[in-house]
Amino acid sequence: MTETTYAKGLEGVVAAESEICRIDGEQGRLYYLGYSIQDLARYSDFEETTYLLLYGKLPNRGEIESFSKRMRISRDLAPEILDMVRNFPKEAHPMELLQSVVSYLSGYVQHKIQHSATCNCRDTLHQVVQLASVVAAWQRFHEGKDYIPPRQDLSHGANFLYMMRGEEPDEYEGKVMDTCLVMHAEHGFNASTFTARVVASTLSTCYCSISAAIGSLYGSLHGGANERVITMVEKIGGKDKAAAWVNQALDNKRKVMGMGHRVYKAKDPRAIIMEEFLLELSKRKNDTSSYDILKEVEKTFRERMEEKGKSIYPNVDFFSGGVYNLLGIPKILFTPIFAMSRVAGWLAHILEQRRDNRIYRPKSLYVGRDAREYVPLEKR
Ligand SMILES: CC(C)(COP(=O)(O)OP(=O)(O)OC[C@H]1O[C@@H](n2cnc3c(N)ncnc32)[C@H](O)[C@@H]1OP(=O)(O)O)[C@@H](O)C(=O)NCCC(=O)NCCS
Repeated sequence: MTETTYAKGLEGVVAAESEICRIDGEQGRLYYLGYSIQDLARYSDFEETTYLLLYGKLPNRGEIESFSKRMRISRDLAPEILDMVRNFPKEAHPMELLQSVVSYLSGYVQHKIQHSATCNCRDTLHQVVQLASVVAAWQRFHEGKDYIPPRQDLSHGANFLYMMRGEEPDEYEGKVMDTCLVMHAEHGFNASTFTARVVASTLSTCYCSISAAIGSLYGSLHGGANERVITMVEKIGGKDKAAAWVNQALDNKRKVMGMGHRVYKAKDPRAIIMEEFLLELSKRKNDTSSYDILKEVEKTFRERMEEKGKSIYPNVDFFSGGVYNLLGIPKILFTPIFAMSRVAGWLAHILEQRRDNRIYRPKSLYVGRDAREYVPLEKR
């Protein structure tokens, strides 16, 4: 390619071929390896979805049993990691802790990355599994409570809730949590996944790639929108005030959190599933206040967008914060939960990058000064 093209934010730029994720933004469809997110949400679980992402196919019974077992025995945190979680600066965000933990875990592994064929990062699943245990342990210590060792008879999502709360969640809550992890596990070439692939393309370790991806996800334009949706719901305070709040936000050219997506020009399919979970959980807990406010925000927002002919709809974050809230998860954990799910997708992309690697090296368009003479310090 000789022609110099420039696309701010790399919009529309194709940076790689990938078999992992297909997003039909116009129709609002999402597929992992050809399987629709609706089917995966309904029939699969986080462990099976992780297998699908890492091996490119659904496992048979024997394969899922041994994979699941490998994931479950990796759940418990070593005393050194627990010390790290306990002693991490109290003011630090758990995303900073997660980034550090992944680098620390790397020290336990003999890396084989020189040749893609011998890469062993699919075998060392602790970097996928233990993020959930670290997030749960961080929350326990933050509340002045003790570490709850994992259980091996629970799904990944249910076990996370168990380790965080110290009590086994009911079956529905466990299913909701696990399915939320399925729905966040992969989403194509978003900023954090691209970050992971760029680092992997240098033949750095998968731990370095994942830790960099966590840093990328920490930014508020990527992870974190669901946290701000809940802040918005709290500020609005009641269903009857929602329309005025949205109108004022839009009149003042403020963005409404949880709305809009670079790729989707229809309602995000994950938002539709999340909305169902939020409604059902709200009914079960006799508290539909957040759901009611969000639906009113959506209605007013869509009316305003229709007037302008804009295809901006709720994204996955619009309802997920409400779901997490009803599961008793504090706002500060929303982005870490995103990370403990998306790590499966990051790893899938790291493996794919390695299979046909070429180091990423785009260009920038130079808009600086022409060559000029160096002026010695005493003459400036
Ligand atoms: C997701 C997001 C970053 C996509 O960004 P993008 O593709 O770069 O789109 P832009 O931010 O350039 O927005 C394009 C137009 O839509 C408008 N728009 C986009 N999202 C909007 C929102 N949430 N509320 C109000 N207007 C919005 C912009 O104001 C802009 O309008 P303009 O053309 O009149 O200037 C953006 O929609 C956003 O900030 N949403 C809120 C944060 C969020 O929910 N993030 C989670 C994503 S999963």
